[in-house]
Amino acid sequence: MNKTILVTGGAGYIGSHTVVELIQADYKVVVVDNLYNSSIGAIQAISGIVGQKVIFYEADCADKKILHKIMTKHSPDAVIHFAGYKAVAESVVKPLLYYRNNLDSTISLLEVMREHNCTQLVFSSSATVYLDAKEVKYNEATTKTNRPFSPYGTTKLVQEYILEDTVHGEQFDNLSGLQVVSLRYFNPIGAHSSGDLGEDPNGIPNNLAPYITQVAVGRLEQLQIFGDNYNTPDGTCLRDYIHVVDLAKGHLSGLEYLFKQSGKFFDAINLGTGKPASVFDVLHSFVKAVGRKIPYKVVSRRDGDLPEFYADPSKAEAVLSFVTKLDLDKMTADSWNWQSKHPNGFN
Ligand code: NAD
Ligand code: UD1
Repeated sequence: MNKTILVTGGAGYIGSHTVVELIQADYKVVVVDNLYNSSIGAIQAISGIVGQKVIFYEADCADKKILHKIMTKHSPDAVIHFAGYKAVAESVVKPLLYYRNNLDSTISLLEVMREHNCTQLVFSSSATVYLDAKEVKYNEATTKTNRPFSPYGTTKLVQEYILEDTVHGEQFDNLSGLQVVSLRYFNPIGAHSSGDLGEDPNGIPNNLAPYITQVAVGRLEQLQIFGDNYNTPDGTCLRDYIHVVDLAKGHLSGLEYLFKQSGKFFDAINLGTGKPASVFDVLHSFVKAVGRKIPYKVVSRRDGDLPEFYADPSKAEAVLSFVTKLDLDKMTADSWNWQSKHPNGFN
């Protein structure tokens, strides 16, 4: 029988793309999202792409009563937990909002999973857990001696600790034990190839790709490049951009890996390409996709930016047999296809 996967935050950017891949791989999917940072339009877009209605609950993951009802009705075999707040700068200003939402939702979810004998979880972690470590190329053994750059990053690290501690504790022992795979994403960009599902940030985007597409579509005046005097080949920062559809597929690999485990199990795995690209590389790739110049100016460095930050993806290949397939030009072409088809996002 097809397995049922509960997807929290499944109306969001990465969650919605993952729901498409799950349904197309014949999983039964139940989405829970409070639509804090997403819209019902994403759920409708998923339905359009997969050609079936999506089971969707507008609910908060910290609301145990509702989660309990949903789990009673659908008895999920596993959970993919995307729900959380993710804006780095906002987390610096409103740390309590971030600690409350991100930690509460994870703790409540674990408690309800335990009540319902649901013991397998894929968690959305972030490369931000590595920030302030001193290495350049990050692998899973990189020591996390310093705290992450932002309260957001700290919530991700603490959630990993909560998950790891719960795996090693005894509260799931009368079941099979808890099994968790924590996926540490690098920089997801791109959109579904249909152009009907993509990133739709609230307000002015903080991240590079949605900022560029909003300039290209005329919603913003020009891109500001945060520094071109770093010690890198073209002076701008290097990052590890990963196509959101590759990333979504990584979650299916993560699930398959979980299903092979029994007993107490925790593992953290990077999802990135391992191929760094500079801000100018991304901009030039967008210029090709859009077919005209994109206005920009170089301004001073942004606080907290590291010159180079990219994944060692070898563990994902070794344990998940996961390798990314889509290159930077495909990422920017798909982002632009989405933005140009939907200049105002889902609205
Ligand atoms: P997103 O904001 O688009 O999606 C998160 C979804 O969770 C949203 O739809 C939001 O409404 C929902 N949500 C938030 N709190 C909730 C709650 N308490 N109950 C129910 N729903 C809730 O973000 P995304 O880019 O799709 O990211 C998904 C996950 O991946 C997040 O946990 C994020 O921290 C993590 N992550 C994202 C990135 C990135 O660059 N996008 C990088 C690393 C990690
Ligand atoms: C940021 C977050 C990180 C999160 C990641 C993916 C910070 C410090 N880190 O990483 O926690 O996991 O997003 O969501 O915010 N840039 C410009 N102009 C812009 C926007 C960005 O030049 O308008 C540059 C940045 O300086 C950086 C690169 O583009 O060099 C990528 O920036 P961004 O998309 O914000 O991602 P990160 O900073 O890598």
